[in-house]
Amino acid sequence: MNFLEERIVKEGIVKSGNVLKVDSFLNHQMDVILMEEIAREFKRRFAGKIISKVLTIEASGIGIAIFVAREFGVPLVFAKKSKSINIDGDMFVAEVESFTHKNKNQVIVSKKFLHEGEHVLIIDDFLANGCALQGLISIAESAGAIVEGCGIVIEKGFQIGGRVIRNLGYHLESLAIIDAMDSESGTITFRDQEEK
Ligand code: G4P
Repeated sequence: MNFLEERIVKEGIVKSGNVLKVDSFLNHQMDVILMEEIAREFKRRFAGKIISKVLTIEASGIGIAIFVAREFGVPLVFAKKSKSINIDGDMFVAEVESFTHKNKNQVIVSKKFLHEGEHVLIIDDFLANGCALQGLISIAESAGAIVEGCGIVIEKGFQIGGRVIRNLGYHLESLAIIDAMDSESGTITFRDQEEK
């Protein structure tokens, strides 16, 4: 087990409906030492890639992405969720449907902060169905940026997002991939990831 899997086993709570609560160290209270370790691990997994910007989505992605951007020494841009339908031409827009929250959001990034030819690393806390990640990829690509990779802290491997993104050919690295979890026993099964 890697450092993150150990922490998930120690403090994660499996809720019904296939939801994992990790709010003691990731989603509400944040363990900043763990965030530093996560950032270093992304740096290692994307070694050799030239990254000029980190892109994430509000809210939970931001805290993690700050550490990753610091580690790579590049700016961080976060996409904002907007309910407004009056979005002007100064914004890149994608529609993101949330499976968990059962709602749809327009996700926006100002054209001022994402440019053609930039090498983008997309970071987020969870990958489930992949809607948020696909929205971020779509925004980066409409800017003419190059998606160098996607770094996820926890992937729920039993939902389709990871497979879809990998099949599209993107370099996706998830620090922990959960293949199964059971709310009654609290057991969590991780996918074996060979040390790279
Ligand atoms: P998707 O983006 O991969 O398609 O997944 P989904 O619609 O299911 O995710 C909706 C939100 O719920 C996302 O946050 C995602 O990070 C989060 N999420 C999904 N599964 C879990 C889970 O098992 N545990 C926890 N703690 N979160 C989960 P969001 O709507 O963007 O909200 P936030 O970042 O503002 O918190």
